[in-house]
Amino acid sequence: MTPELMEAGARIREEAAKRQTTTGLSGGRAASYSRVVVPGELDVAHGAILYLDDITVSFDGFKALNALSLNISAGELRCIIGPNGAGKTTMMDVITGKTRPDAGKAFFGSTIDLLRLRENQIASIGIGRKFQKPTVFEQLSVFENLELALKADRGVKASMLFRLDSEQLDRIGAMLNLIHLKADAQRTAGLLSHGQKQWLEIGMLLMQDPKLLLLDEPVAGMTDEETERTAELFLSLEGSHSLVVVEHDMKFIGELTQGKATKKVTVLHEGSVLAEGTLAECQANEKVVEVYLGR
Ligand SMILES: Nc1ncnc2c1ncn2[C@@H]1O[C@H](COP(=O)(O)OP(=O)(O)OP(=O)(O)O)[C@@H](O)[C@H]1O
Ligand SMILES: [Mg+2]
Repeated sequence: MTPELMEAGARIREEAAKRQTTTGLSGGRAASYSRVVVPGELDVAHGAILYLDDITVSFDGFKALNALSLNISAGELRCIIGPNGAGKTTMMDVITGKTRPDAGKAFFGSTIDLLRLRENQIASIGIGRKFQKPTVFEQLSVFENLELALKADRGVKASMLFRLDSEQLDRIGAMLNLIHLKADAQRTAGLLSHGQKQWLEIGMLLMQDPKLLLLDEPVAGMTDEETERTAELFLSLEGSHSLVVVEHDMKFIGELTQGKATKKVTVLHEGSVLAEGTLAECQANEKVVEVYLGR
């Protein structure tokens, strides 16, 4: 893990600790709820960073999501698998505010009701999304792409604090290392391989310091080596970030879950959770084999 990410992790922990500061001067009710909860701020003190409950999305009567419930813990890397049309992308559309569900609840931490926020607000409170197709600025260099992503978030503050410039340079340098593009920093992004563009886009998302990252089929079209490196990258983010990774590539899912016997995989089918457990448990589940893995 890079110092940058460790620092980010430390910052998140520090903020969480601050939120847990006791108010308990007056005793009674205040003491029993000994946390200061700031409205609109991410609160993961209860462990969950994402909470979906009973979400239903209908398209002309067809239920793309059907009473879907899902809990993601802070710092977790959750893999989501399932056949085409299972509702995986629709689930991400609901989390990011692109699609409004007909029913259900969606919370970011314990206090932020995602169903009350617009798409741009959801992005700005720390939910980053990576679509399947890479969307980098092809005419700009790799470095400039990261620079732009950094500035997108910090407009006025960045221009006021001139010291931030060297910090920004350090952050971009650390990110170039993390996404294996140091040697290509000055290259035009349009000339990168498909896999490198995917990494660049992930780097751009990370520059905005998201707390939760949603990655829809991130290794589609990558070479085996690029896929392996992507698994390493995601594993290095685990803990300091929360990640939801949707993939069909089972070798990649295997790489993401190996070494941690308890790591959860969720199988979606027909808009709801068909199974949830370790990869081995899912692979041994007859229903899962029937609708997905056995094909
Ligand atoms: N805007 C829409 N209008 C109508 N139907 C839709 C819309 N978006 C998704 N659907 C349908 O909802 C179902 C779930 O689609 P979704 O894209 O979420 O599946 P998925 O699990 O991401 O599949 P894949 O693995 O192929 O990406 C599909 O049957 C799809 O055709
Ligand atoms: Mg999809």
